[in-house]
Amino acid sequence: MAETDPARRAEELHRLIAYHNQRYFELDDPEITDAEFDELVAELAATERDHPELVTESSPTQNVWGAPVELFAEVRHRTPMMSLDKTTTYDELLAWGKRMERYISGDVAFDCELKLDGLAMSLLYEGGRLSRAATRGNGVVGEDVTANVATIAVVPKQLGPGSPEVVEVRGEIYMTVSAFEALNRQQAESGGRRFINPRNAAAGSLRQKDAAVTAGRELSFCAYQLGAVVGGPDFKYHHETIEWLGGLGFPTSLYAKTVGSLEEVDHYCAYWTENRHSVDFEIDGVVVKVDDLSQRRELGATSHAPRWAIAYKFPPEEKTTLLKDIMVSIGKSGKATPFAVLEPVVVGGANVSLATLHNEDQVKLKDLRPGDTVVVRRAGDVIPEVRGPVLALRPPDASPWAFPAKCPICASPLQRLPGEADTFCTNVDCPGQQVQRISHFASRGAMDIEGLGERTVRLFCDEGLLADVADIYSLDFDRVRQLEGFADISVANLAGSIQASKARPLANLLFGLSVRHLGENTSALLARSFGHLDRIMEAGEEEIAAVEGIGQVVAASIKRFFSLPRNREVVERLRAAGLNFEGPSQPSLPQTLAGKSVVVTGTLEGWSREEAEAAVKARGGKAPGSVSKKTTAVVVGADPGGAKVSKAAEFGIPTLDEAGFSHLLETGDLP
Ligand code: IVH
Repeated sequence: MAETDPARRAEELHRLIAYHNQRYFELDDPEITDAEFDELVAELAATERDHPELVTESSPTQNVWGAPVELFAEVRHRTPMMSLDKTTTYDELLAWGKRMERYISGDVAFDCELKLDGLAMSLLYEGGRLSRAATRGNGVVGEDVTANVATIAVVPKQLGPGSPEVVEVRGEIYMTVSAFEALNRQQAESGGRRFINPRNAAAGSLRQKDAAVTAGRELSFCAYQLGAVVGGPDFKYHHETIEWLGGLGFPTSLYAKTVGSLEEVDHYCAYWTENRHSVDFEIDGVVVKVDDLSQRRELGATSHAPRWAIAYKFPPEEKTTLLKDIMVSIGKSGKATPFAVLEPVVVGGANVSLATLHNEDQVKLKDLRPGDTVVVRRAGDVIPEVRGPVLALRPPDASPWAFPAKCPICASPLQRLPGEADTFCTNVDCPGQQVQRISHFASRGAMDIEGLGERTVRLFCDEGLLADVADIYSLDFDRVRQLEGFADISVANLAGSIQASKARPLANLLFGLSVRHLGENTSALLARSFGHLDRIMEAGEEEIAAVEGIGQVVAASIKRFFSLPRNREVVERLRAAGLNFEGPSQPSLPQTLAGKSVVVTGTLEGWSREEAEAAVKARGGKAPGSVSKKTTAVVVGADPGGAKVSKAAEFGIPTLDEAGFSHLLETGDLP
């Protein structure tokens, strides 16, 4: 039962949010979906709204998740970026229409726009130039991400002649589904972090200290709202403002539609609820706006949202199906994970027949029983989730599920340690674990050994050819050749890809070792920070935990892993086989600045001086300390050195702001 006392519930929510944050960010192993996480934060925010005395500085509602808050400078929005009231039904839409009748009379036209699932962004143009890009933040104060946004190709950096003195454009930064999938493929290849969904990938790509990383990601932008304008035309209708923004070079929604009644709005919402997956970007609803700007002024706003707009949120995609069984799978570290075996059902465009149930407590909490009809949901992200049973349809003989006492593969006892959520197979030699560990080692994000997928690994283990990952490098190919399905060519190919894997970067090797809690992301951080496997093995727990992005749990787990003689022995055999223990292998950047020389002066907001100079050098350029006739450009931050600026003027060398610098880094051309 959830706690009903608000103070205790708030405390419980703090704990839950911290726990799920750790699973997501530190352990790379989320237990709940994004939507469920958002529900926890929303519940806490609502509790704090009703009981302001419960707001503390450390409350998760006071922080932006996933990234240090101090990464970017604060920006106070000229006019607050408000949120929107939400509806999920036609009746609520009608109620919104009725509320508006208190403020306006006569006909109302509505603009229906797709509600893009990305990040709200405010773009400020002064004198036609992009001068500032800011995130929504808490609506009043956001973060300055100008340098990053300036790298997004579809965001205009310079507006054409006749543009107003000042114009603020609001819209959504997002990543298309195809760009997201391509990014994850690329991340898998380079041993980088995999993103959970396009929104996450867009946020992660934008919140980068090094704008060059953002530049390498394919981000999109859609303008949906005109903010403050000085010296621009007068508009009567919202749809005119959007057309005008389109004319200035901003991407705008292709699917927006102006209609004359809420009934038509409802049709638009119904159409897009059905067809939400027909476009190459994620949408989570429809935004409905009053078109007439004078009516908008009369309607005004409440403390948090305009009265003239509302968000119609799509229902999460849910289906019911039969829970045929609950089984347990054994992972690479021995973790026994319960999963649902479902009568296959199509939810959110995907066929779902299996769904993880995470751990024993989750099954108990939901009281799932084989034979139940269950609700399956696919919200926002790709992991299908079993919400719970439909109790009215429960067969009378459905009995509660109990976690098996024995490993389904080796029959050793399963053990759940006190205070832990997970259950483990206690046998390190469990063939289930071996197969998982070896196939993980050979998988794409790790050593990428083509031809050594899970089925082959299982076969080789059954045949006694493999027992641990080091055996891969002394595989008896003569015996492999005799196995069914293998011939000279396939064996030669396998031998070739095993040989090639020896040179993989340290991050891949580390990730491949199946250290509990160590994900792709954290492996890459460690490889970059230590540079050699021996240094990681020798490092103390504190030293490991001191690496940014690595927490105590991961550090302790690494220490434990390398303290086991058995693991050490495997590592030594890998060394003897000639594997690369050194890293990192940073993919080299396009050499856009080869032969160019860029001087940096003053304080930049998005880079330290060293970082800016390193960004130039990493692209093949020179970053000398003084300006000469040969200098290509001078990047000028706040409080620049007078000599450099006057020399630049004297020699007629172009000066650049941060946005211009990002452009130069990305393209090698002056903006
Ligand atoms: S209008 C005051 N239009 O939805 C009106 N918002 O709470 C400002 N969103 O995170 C918003 N697509 O970024 C508007 N076509 C659209 C939108 C849209 C997505 C997002 C927005 C904000 C949330 C609204």
